Amino acid sequence: MFYLTTAIDYTNGAPHIGHAYEKVLADVIARYQRLRGEEVYFLTGVDQHGQKVQQTAEKDGVNPATYVKRVTKGFVNAWDKLGLEYDGWAETTNPEHQSCVQGVLQKLYDEGQIYKKRYTGHYSIRQEQFLTDKERNEDGEFGEEWGEVEERDEENYYFKLSEHVPWLKNLVDSQEDFVIPHFRKADVINAIERSIDTDLCISRPKERLRWGIELPFDSDFVTFVWFDALINYISFAGYNKAADSSLPDFEKLWPASIHIIGKDILVPSHSIYWMCMLHAIGFNDQQIPSLLCHGWWNIKKKSDQGNAGSEKMSKSLGNVVDPIELVDTFGQDAVRYYLVRDIHTGRDSDYDMDRLVMLFNTELANNLGNLCNRALNMTKRYCGGVTMASEYDDEFSQQLRASLDTVLEKYRHHMDRYDISFALEAIIEFISGTNVYAEQQKPWEIAKDEGKAAQLHTVLSHMVEAVAQASVLLKPIIPTACERIQSQLNAPHLSELTLSELHWGLLPVGQELAKPKPVFPRIQLED
Ligand code: MSP
Repeated sequence: MFYLTTAIDYTNGAPHIGHAYEKVLADVIARYQRLRGEEVYFLTGVDQHGQKVQQTAEKDGVNPATYVKRVTKGFVNAWDKLGLEYDGWAETTNPEHQSCVQGVLQKLYDEGQIYKKRYTGHYSIRQEQFLTDKERNEDGEFGEEWGEVEERDEENYYFKLSEHVPWLKNLVDSQEDFVIPHFRKADVINAIERSIDTDLCISRPKERLRWGIELPFDSDFVTFVWFDALINYISFAGYNKAADSSLPDFEKLWPASIHIIGKDILVPSHSIYWMCMLHAIGFNDQQIPSLLCHGWWNIKKKSDQGNAGSEKMSKSLGNVVDPIELVDTFGQDAVRYYLVRDIHTGRDSDYDMDRLVMLFNTELANNLGNLCNRALNMTKRYCGGVTMASEYDDEFSQQLRASLDTVLEKYRHHMDRYDISFALEAIIEFISGTNVYAEQQKPWEIAKDEGKAAQLHTVLSHMVEAVAQASVLLKPIIPTACERIQSQLNAPHLSELTLSELHWGLLPVGQELAKPKPVFPRIQLED
């Protein structure tokens, strides 16, 4: 079973394209794994507790429960528009999740992994956590990333994180794919050094925060939001579920193959807190998931003086890009395509609407769209809309057939490494190659010569076959467009194929094609 999860999004605001990118990336990976013939379970959802949610709800003058319901709807709507197909939906106010979190807390408390102590120190309101001197920067200050920092003197409960750090250190050294891409490992190793003698505060007194899961052993406290949220990966996978629960069977799902997260939540939350929590709960090394850590979409600053650099997307800067608006303007295929095409997994990229339009128009409308139109229209005009046998052969046709093997190899290689953009480059190269083949063979010319009927049939059936292949390979990325192509090819069997079944000759001779219709209308921007 390929069980994959994404981060669960904070419900203190609407979704933006950063959230959307992560979810599309996960959806593409899930669909690709299905294409490989794997059984897949894709979990995503929302993080509904914590101080930020409580504060935003207060500002809005509604209670947090009403507030998170409303915001959650916005996320579900955005993910529908983007065509995400997830199997499980995690909401941390769900009673089954809450009881799983309380079960974990009680177990760790009973086993002496959680203790109470008084602490006086600095507290970051933005990150909702106590800070130590290790969090100070070179100037001895708490940097911008911590937001407003205040002094606090409080009794709280602590998880003995430091007891698990030596184990974690060994694990990170020995497991090659602990974090993907591997260059992120250095961040984890640094964070481990910083955590060596620090335990994790996992409670918040109710007088300060009411909007959270109550500690089962002390009703004056709620659970720290991260401790609650991280457990979603096991609670919604059916860990310790009740006998009458409809959640999946945990044994079938765990360990997750990958947790997909952004670079900002790799350390300390996922690579340190979560791994140590899993170890404390009793999971062994083989039951620890890999972390797929993606980069960020930033915003390209507009300036008259050429390249003016980029800035973080944030509500306060007012530069947030709304994925719903984007889909309404450009369509689901264009947005999904852009979000995984113009970034390399693990690296950052600058969002740029002009590039979204340019990539859609050149790679989809002009390249694939043009090939579809030509192949289907000429098959209709010259062959009565039916695929013909390839009785003629030549060097160019052989090269085209051979190029399929190359694209399949590259596609598999890059998709297995979650490098969607490189896999797309390989497909685009294959489609361009087919368009070059059409230019060389000029079926519109040879159609005029009755003596070249066999050549015409070969050329057109090769072009239609290339469209069929591309529709299978692109389906994880742009599923609705590929469904439209496959219905024009009148070939529903294409959606049943697995990757290893792809070989030249997906469309049988005598296949009657449906009426051709443009699949990728060019985007025209108004001035
Ligand atoms: N609620 C926590 C995660 C808990 S997981 C147990 C959280 N939420 S978040 O809404 O701030 O971020 C959700 C995901 O979106 C994170 O993986 C984060 O990295 C990702 N992104 C947020 N902004 C982003 C960009 N601008 N670009 C790409 N991904 C970004 O953290």
